[in-house]
Amino acid sequence: MTAKKFSFLVEDLSKQDHGLIMVMGKGGVGKTTIAAALALGLVDKGRTVNLSTTDPAAHVAETLREQVHGLQVSRIDPKVETQKYIDKIMAAKGPSLNEDEKALLLEDLQSPCTEEVAVFHAFSHIVAQARSGFVVLDTAPTGHSLLLMDAAGAYHRQMMSTFEKQTGSSVNVVTPLMRLQDPDYTKIILVALPEGTPVSQASALQDDLRRANIEPYAWVLNRSVLAAKTKDPLLVARLQGEVKQMQRINDGLSNNLFAIPFQAEPPIGVHALHDLLIK
Ligand SMILES: Nc1ncnc2c1ncn2[C@@H]1O[C@H](COP(=O)(O)OP(=O)(O)O)[C@@H](O)[C@H]1O
Ligand SMILES: [Mg+2]
Repeated sequence: MTAKKFSFLVEDLSKQDHGLIMVMGKGGVGKTTIAAALALGLVDKGRTVNLSTTDPAAHVAETLREQVHGLQVSRIDPKVETQKYIDKIMAAKGPSLNEDEKALLLEDLQSPCTEEVAVFHAFSHIVAQARSGFVVLDTAPTGHSLLLMDAAGAYHRQMMSTFEKQTGSSVNVVTPLMRLQDPDYTKIILVALPEGTPVSQASALQDDLRRANIEPYAWVLNRSVLAAKTKDPLLVARLQGEVKQMQRINDGLSNNLFAIPFQAEPPIGVHALHDLLIK
């Protein structure tokens, strides 16, 4: 078998004392579980960690079940971020406007664009936080995470052209996209299940990221029966499918593959999550 134990991924990541770790993949593959386990593993190694989610379902708290000393848990909630953003704009511009102008501005701010910009601001803030500690980002199960990258890309291009116009040359500006493209700063963990369709979906996600010049750091195959090392002859025979998917990943999708065994019980709670790190 050519997948490493999940605990080695924590070993590798903890060689640094800061950075952005983004856990990505389709809904239900185990992103929240893996993000929580990685965050716990890094806290165990004495690192400062903020476990953050953009997932509207936000199962992080339920997955951990309890507060962990040294682990901050936060969430980018589009509704909350949008209100914060509107309040900020109104506080800045409101005093110089009359009541009609204020009502007009408020109406303008009720557009879907505002939510995108507000979420992007929150995302940039989280990205920048990883300068001085770990941020483990449990991303949304939908194309939401890619939208965020797109927003980061648009912001990047706008910043660059403004600066280039002002100075006549490209300058020293660090944008969120540059941080996402920097392999020392950002490590993307792609999660898949050891079956044909989920691996193809993760592969498509990897292609999307590569188009944005972002190279995933590692793949995690979750719920692997192969990694659970079963001796049941019937299961072993059925594991050919898993063997095939592992080979497929090894043969060109990633050279940094980790596997998490299928657990009889869903790994919920700090204790069960810790178990993922030692098995
Ligand atoms: N290795 C595993 N073995 C058994 N169950 C798992 C495993 N990893 C995750 N689960 C369970 O699968 C479900 C989906 O996992 P979750 O982390 O919420 O996925 P996602 O965040 O990608 O939607 C949860 O009930 C979780 O407890
Ligand atoms: Mg989740």
